[in-house]
Amino acid sequence: MSISYGSFPGTRPRRLRTTPAMRRMVAETRLHPAELILPAFVREGVTEPVPLQSMPGVVQHTRDTLRKAAAEAVAAGLGGIMLFGVPEESKKDAVGTPGTDPDGILQVAIRDVRAEVGDDLVIMSDLCLDEHTDHGHCGVLDAEGRIDNDATLERYAEMARAQADAGVHTVGPSGMMDGQVGVVREALDGAGYQDVSILAYTAKYASAFYGPFREAVGSSLKGDRKTYQQDPANARESLRELELDLAEGADMVMVKPALPYLDILSRIADAVDVPVAAYQISGEYAMVEAAAANGWIDRDRAIMETLTSVRRAGAGMILTYWATEVAQRLNRGE
Ligand code: PBG
Repeated sequence: MSISYGSFPGTRPRRLRTTPAMRRMVAETRLHPAELILPAFVREGVTEPVPLQSMPGVVQHTRDTLRKAAAEAVAAGLGGIMLFGVPEESKKDAVGTPGTDPDGILQVAIRDVRAEVGDDLVIMSDLCLDEHTDHGHCGVLDAEGRIDNDATLERYAEMARAQADAGVHTVGPSGMMDGQVGVVREALDGAGYQDVSILAYTAKYASAFYGPFREAVGSSLKGDRKTYQQDPANARESLRELELDLAEGADMVMVKPALPYLDILSRIADAVDVPVAAYQISGEYAMVEAAAANGWIDRDRAIMETLTSVRRAGAGMILTYWATEVAQRLNRGE
């Protein structure tokens, strides 16, 4: 061990913290634009982007501004974009028809973005019914109003085909139905889309931090998602979900939310040999923005610190609403 002279410390870890150059050199974790993925909302029937109150700086895009955001993401060197469609209220129904309609807003947005950026960005889409249903749940309901797992899987298979037809590179099944990854893989393969990959929402918790997202997608959800999303009290069932998703054909796995679940992220990252993503969600974004707007924390440092922590815990890829801004800062060498 270390040698001590009298009462002075023999080992001085502070030597490695003396200058910015020294700290930069010994840093174990670095962020890179290519590992950042921008979640983006596109709203049907609007001619101007609609700002989101609970997510200052984030908008519901028009088709046009979404294309611009995608082009900007390419210019900043981002890895990907995750698309969420917000259909007109009148088109939502109990089975989420806009989610499978070739002219549904999400499919339209996938085609638009693919036309804009081609293969220069990994185009991903949320594969879930909640943005498209009038009741706001991630699945279809049975006669008693409960989520019907297996009937929902049939809708997910149709969604997977519709999104692949539109030109998506990667689908993100996020509804936490049992068997969803397997059904989506089978649907894609059956339609000749062997190359469309699956980013599985593997560990997805029933979180209060999704709050602002509900505004972002105009969700009409009453009640909660606790019968399908995981209980925040549980860690081990994430490993069970992981095994199942891998067995069913997940190409990449994700943990969500990010910051309150770094322990889960770390365990999953240690356990797998596929790429691991984390989703820094709407409430995580809103918390930092709100505190910063009050002058209570340093916004830019807090953003970098949260992302570095998520990266350090084991995420190779991070979905974050700050993706483009952070990539631009990284490109400037900040
Ligand atoms: C489901 C979905 C949600 C989010 C991403 N996909 C909402 C939910 O599960 O309740 C949340 C993302 C965020 O909060 O930023 N379609």
